[in-house]
Amino acid sequence: MSHPTRAIIHLDRLGRNLRLLGELTGGRPLWPCIKANAYGHGAEIVARHLVALGHDTLCVAHATEALELREAGIRARLVLLSAALPEASDAVAEHGLEPVVCTHATLESLSRAAERVGRQVAVHLKVDTGMGRVGVRPDEVEGFLERGRQLPGVRVRGLMSHFPRADEADQSFSRAQIESFHRVCEATRAAGIEVRHLANSAGILDLPESHFDAARPGIAIYGLAPSKNIANPRVAELEPVLEWRTRITFLKEVPSGTGLSYGHTFHTQRPSLVATLPVGYGDGLHRGLSNRMHVLVRGVRCPQVGTITMDQTLVDVTALRGEIELGDEVTRLAAADENGASGSRPG
Ligand SMILES: Cc1ncc(COP(=O)(O)O)c(C=O)c1O
Repeated sequence: MSHPTRAIIHLDRLGRNLRLLGELTGGRPLWPCIKANAYGHGAEIVARHLVALGHDTLCVAHATEALELREAGIRARLVLLSAALPEASDAVAEHGLEPVVCTHATLESLSRAAERVGRQVAVHLKVDTGMGRVGVRPDEVEGFLERGRQLPGVRVRGLMSHFPRADEADQSFSRAQIESFHRVCEATRAAGIEVRHLANSAGILDLPESHFDAARPGIAIYGLAPSKNIANPRVAELEPVLEWRTRITFLKEVPSGTGLSYGHTFHTQRPSLVATLPVGYGDGLHRGLSNRMHVLVRGVRCPQVGTITMDQTLVDVTALRGEIELGDEVTRLAAADENGASGSRPG
């Protein structure tokens, strides 16, 4: 017996999304981001497929994620995007990981760990050009590279930065970041840095001048647009990699004015046929989507109604009265819908 709810990962679509992004970057290396369990799609499955497609570098956030991939047999270069504490250095050196660094203490501890295992650790220096999260200031880069040169165990292989606002309609902030990053790259031409990387999905799509030597796409490889502001028409070609399917476990007719689910955040405005689905926020269907999303039943978009609960969710299937049955498959739990569901809700 299997659970009625299934997540289907369309690896063929992952490949096509990457091919599209590759066309946009003119064939520059793409380093797909598979942190947070590949944005929920399953890091191991996704990593294996990416390696099979020829990607030799993958990005995760933390060393723990990278170690899981190593244990699963993934031999690709693994870039650690989040700042790590010096105590992660031994694992980084031992497993040949490539951390993003932005403190001298981490650089020094990595060098010591590298010497212990008898190999060099390649690192990527993060420059904060406006993200305001981690990174050294542009004017600190030279000093940092100098420290790197003095440490035998480390090699600053990459120089990188990150966009906080590349998915907005007004690109002035991102353009200023690109300028700033470009200046840092120019000033460090002689430092032997192998790869400069800045672009996330939005940068790949809308800011060609951000492509530099490699790009780190995340959300777009999974087939989602970074935001509604993306200007590049090719964003429409992205195909969602995740599909959710479940089945109707209960059907009932209710009169007009019936309050549904916790808090009665939805009241029917007509006699309605309501279906129950065996999926809820315990399965990752965010409670914040309550009364704001649709699902497809027999190809018809049906509004989700009432508060999404831990393991069950309601859908107004009145439009399908006489056609649907218990056990029917509900295909593709659709993303948040701006138009919302029909019916009443507070506010
Ligand atoms: C440093 C860094 N680069 C690239 C990405 C990928 O971003 P996106 O999913 O917007 O493509 C992320 C994701 O958060 C990130 O933190």
